[in-house]
Amino acid sequence: MNYPIWDVGGLGAGLVVAIIAIIHVLISHVAVGGGAFLVVAEIWSRRQPDGQRVRDWLHTFATFFLVYTTVLGATTGVGIWFSVQLASAEAISLLIHQFVFAWAIEWVFFLSELTVLYLYYYGFKRNTPRMQTFLAGAYFVIAWGSLVVINGILTFMLTPGAWTIENKDIAAGFFNPGYFPALLIRTVTMFLLAGLAGFLVASRIRDEEFKGRIIQFCVKWVIPGAILVPGLGYWYFTTLPASTVTILAGGTVGVVGGTLSALTRMAILAGVAGTSLVLGTLVFAAYPKTVNTIAAISMLLVAQLGIMGAEFFREMGRKPYVIHGVLYSNGLWVKDAKDPARLNGPYLEKAKWHGGVASGTLAHGEQVFRLQCASCHTRDGYRSVVYRTRNWTAGFGSRWLGTMHDMGVMPPFQGDALDKAALVAYVLSLRGETVDPRDLLPDRQATAQGDDLDPDGSGQALPGLEVAGAEVGR
Ligand code: HEC
Repeated sequence: MNYPIWDVGGLGAGLVVAIIAIIHVLISHVAVGGGAFLVVAEIWSRRQPDGQRVRDWLHTFATFFLVYTTVLGATTGVGIWFSVQLASAEAISLLIHQFVFAWAIEWVFFLSELTVLYLYYYGFKRNTPRMQTFLAGAYFVIAWGSLVVINGILTFMLTPGAWTIENKDIAAGFFNPGYFPALLIRTVTMFLLAGLAGFLVASRIRDEEFKGRIIQFCVKWVIPGAILVPGLGYWYFTTLPASTVTILAGGTVGVVGGTLSALTRMAILAGVAGTSLVLGTLVFAAYPKTVNTIAAISMLLVAQLGIMGAEFFREMGRKPYVIHGVLYSNGLWVKDAKDPARLNGPYLEKAKWHGGVASGTLAHGEQVFRLQCASCHTRDGYRSVVYRTRNWTAGFGSRWLGTMHDMGVMPPFQGDALDKAALVAYVLSLRGETVDPRDLLPDRQATAQGDDLDPDGSGQALPGLEVAGAEVGR
């Protein structure tokens, strides 16, 4: 309520953040895992009869690694900052205020990480192998340290644990119930991705014998992660809040129709991705010749799909909150929502960025949509509100808004009867129906309910009338 809305047409702000973040996750995980890969490979190269040749290959790996992580990693990282602060200014403000030192440490780590990586890269010709091993080790420790820090903030958002808005216990929030399982999952995933990146760089080696040895080395990085992730994932699942488990298990009205299908698809995607990675890696191990650029890139893409599935699952489970139990995705604080006078009073008075619209107009309804719904729904694109309200009649809409919170994935509606009427009139206008919001006020509606979908006034549609769309992405 305190910040303006970033209204992104067909995608919605949340999806823009998700797209940038998903790319960044893959890159940043390779960036940390690749550090460990470099250290171990440096040590391994010293034990090889043709150590210099291995190190030359490592130089090629480091070139790919440097460009990939510093250019793509850094730009998408900044992209996350740009997009999240526009999409959820209220949440970012809370995170910055609570974890200001963690952010500061993170930025120092990031700067040192890049510096050490450049020292390592440009030291290939000049430094002793010992010095290179040391630099690679320092790089890995710092890069992993940045995960250790950011992981506290990321997991806090879904499982704030004993942190509350009253006690603001930062240690409890940082080392929250999800912290350790998530740290381990991400760490083993990083090693896995480093091995996959190794396949890609190794795919260009011409000498079959040498290529075979490098591939065998990379295989050892992929297999442990692929085996450990499901078990660690289950441990993580046990730390999730009860409401999240309910949403993920599909026990809430409407979610069965709308969300679960997406979750199921995503869970299947993650499972299929994991299995394909193990099988693909076993094939690579047995027949190193099959490792070509396309096969190696496909493996990375499969891993990306798996990560997407897992991250989407986690994000979905956090609905309707951006910080679980504390702040709803649309900037409504849970403590404010508990105060009926505040929740049910006129909305525009409390919203700071409504563009000065006149009360009771369609423009009023549009502002209510932007400020209360647009963080999750677009008008007619991703999670389209037009599609989801296609069976609405005017009277049903207003009553439905009064019960939307019961679905478990949406915040409660904020505002009075006129706010609801304005929103419903606006939503109807999106499909070409012209209604004056004031005609939708309850006293005028009492006489005109004949064609209503919801004759008993419960806010639930008649059985058999599907209100939500089963299709995700519509
Ligand atoms: C925190 C994110 C979030 C916010 C904010 C939100 N919704 Fe939803 N909404 C969802 C999700 C998730 C679903 C269920 C899955 C689906 O249909 O995509 C849903 C479903 C719906 C449905 C279908 C209901 C059914 O019975 O299945 C309607 C209608 C709807 N939302 C309207 C709104 C309106 C109007 C607003 C603003 C007042 C709003 N939503 C705010 C996330 C949100």
